[in-house]
Amino acid sequence: MSGVDPGVHELIRRRWSPRAFADRSVASDVLRQVLAAARWAPSAYNEQPWHFIVARREDPDAFAQLLSCLKEGNRRWAQQAPVLMLVLAHRNFSHNGAPNPHAWYDTGQAVAYLTLQATALGLYVHQMAGILPDEARRRYAVPEDYDVVVALALGYLGEPACLFTRRPAGAGAKPAYAAATYRAGV
Ligand SMILES: Cc1cc2nc3c(=O)[nH]c(=O)nc-3n(C[C@H](O)[C@H](O)[C@H](O)COP(=O)(O)O)c2cc1C
Repeated sequence: MSGVDPGVHELIRRRWSPRAFADRSVASDVLRQVLAAARWAPSAYNEQPWHFIVARREDPDAFAQLLSCLKEGNRRWAQQAPVLMLVLAHRNFSHNGAPNPHAWYDTGQAVAYLTLQATALGLYVHQMAGILPDEARRRYAVPEDYDVVVALALGYLGEPACLFTRRPAGAGAKPAYAAATYRAGV
């Protein structure tokens, strides 16, 4: 990890998306802390459009239900995570019902907050776009004005040898100037 953007905060540098999770459950109070962090994210009109459906492996029926909302490729490795979540975004403002064009943006921020809190607690988050939104909508009776945005696996790091190995930290990241200076002329 050394040598890659050394000025970036250690918490950010430590985060990555593993596919191998330890066979260790996440205590309820720890899970609550992770979810609480999402609530601290800023959002347009303070709408907080994000919602999390949480399933723990200790509850096999709930876990199987959430697992069935993932695409097969993700299901294969995510089934060993102790916690799975589906992330929803409410597309309309609650104060007037008008479309909220920043619902997904704000929801992404909430997930970022959750992820960093998880990292601070020694946990890892792996987000997944590879989901079956229609299946999730049906199983959880998701209202029409909510989108199923993403799923995530949460847990402690497993034995890397048993699955896919990670890329070196930051190695796949675009150069900082590419991310920061698009049309900014910097
Ligand atoms: C919105 C989003 C969707 C993603 N979807 C998947 C996915 O379906 N399957 C998967 O294995 N990884 C998925 N990832 C993980 C990315 O591939 C990963 O974050 C990226 O390669 C950078 O690696 P790192 O998180 O280890 O730094 C997703 C990440 C994000 C943020």
